[in-house]
Amino acid sequence: MKKIIIDCDPGHDDAIAILLAAGNPEIDLLGITTVAGNQTLEKITRNAQSVCAVAGINVPIAKGSSVPLVQKQVVAGDIHGTTGLDGPFLPEPTFDLDSRHAVDFIIDTVMSHEPNTVNLVPIGPLTNIALAMRKEPQIISRVESVIVMGGAYTRGNVSPVAEFNIYVDPEAADAVFSADWPVTMVGLDLTHQALARKELQDRVAAIGGDISTFVLDVWEFVGSTYREVYEFDYPPIHDACCVAALINPNVFTTARAEVKVELRGEYTRGMTVTNFESEP
Ligand code: BDR
Ligand code: CA
Repeated sequence: MKKIIIDCDPGHDDAIAILLAAGNPEIDLLGITTVAGNQTLEKITRNAQSVCAVAGINVPIAKGSSVPLVQKQVVAGDIHGTTGLDGPFLPEPTFDLDSRHAVDFIIDTVMSHEPNTVNLVPIGPLTNIALAMRKEPQIISRVESVIVMGGAYTRGNVSPVAEFNIYVDPEAADAVFSADWPVTMVGLDLTHQALARKELQDRVAAIGGDISTFVLDVWEFVGSTYREVYEFDYPPIHDACCVAALINPNVFTTARAEVKVELRGEYTRGMTVTNFESEP
């Protein structure tokens, strides 16, 4: 069983990642931390609470960073709507937030578990993870792995070369990718192959009930924005790919490479420059 912390900005695909983690017996979801990204921190934290309410998930939720380390906040209202999770009915929270800041929750959780047993799953901008590393550098050698949804080696989605989670906080991403811990970059090259196609939606519809309705409403909304903005036939389940990889490592293949985050380029800021010829 893999112990994980999901650091997220729900977000339609974040919601699917949370449901997958909470529902799969291979995963021990230790907590959810939130970071401004797809929408403001207030909105996406509230969305995390609603996702938990929909599915009866009872794990700590700790609210985190409201702005990137250096630059101004950017949100993705064109994809995720004004709430950050437009479409499905979002119920009232059923429990209070954890009293700790997300950064302290991450540090406490990693430090209080056996070394090499906690996996970080950042599926939003990397602000909280970078701050946690800086505040308690011991977590770097203590986590089992860091599975990031972000970046790509071939393309971007906010700019031709930058993916949203990296583009929003490139300095934080640079810190995370430069640190001496095992990072897996689950980028757009991969997640654009993981679509919520009709066959999958039919299978979810056949289950019935509140969670099934929620998931279908999630895909209906984000399906329509992905059609409009990117001309996709079906929406990618980006963030859920990280959880899937922890459940079954054979779900995709990886290659070792050095990844540098571009911080200075006039047109390329936030690009994950990937060198397969040079291993970290
Ligand atoms: C990533 O950006 C967000 O909009 C999604 O939730 C995902 O984490 C995809 O680029
Ligand atoms: Ca996300």
